[in-house]
Amino acid sequence: MIKTLHIGCDHAAVDLKDLLVNALKDRYEVVDHGTYSHESCDYPDYAHAVCRAVEKDPESNGILLCGTGIGMSIAANRHDKIRAALCTTELHASFTRRHNDANVLCLGARMTGEELAMAIVETFLHTDFEGGRHLRRIAKLSISNEAE
Ligand code: RB5
Repeated sequence: MIKTLHIGCDHAAVDLKDLLVNALKDRYEVVDHGTYSHESCDYPDYAHAVCRAVEKDPESNGILLCGTGIGMSIAANRHDKIRAALCTTELHASFTRRHNDANVLCLGARMTGEELAMAIVETFLHTDFEGGRHLRRIAKLSISNEAE
């Protein structure tokens, strides 16, 4: 089964988004939620569009890109079923899949070069969640499941 990837960015990251879409579109069902130009826009609009799509299809993953990756990760993590991770190294990508079962990867186009960004994406997409004790911890991420 081909995995669906929902991808979105703001104006600061259009070039990196286009590069990733092109690199991934033959291997994944890539849904490009925009933005599509360098015209200034608001990153939460794209974060919420991608996160809603991932929440609707839990088998899918999201990739969100802005200048730093920080705004996207803040917006994305307001969604209850989203575990978004801002990654600057392949090791971050590996651990956040193995331990946090992250379903959205955030990258900063002004912080991370294209080659490294691509390597981080590949690691994120090819690393499995370890489950076990991490399942309990992930359940506690929701405030409503907080320990007494
Ligand atoms: C846009 O200038 C910039 O603020 C945005 O891309 C992002 O870095 C926000 O966190």
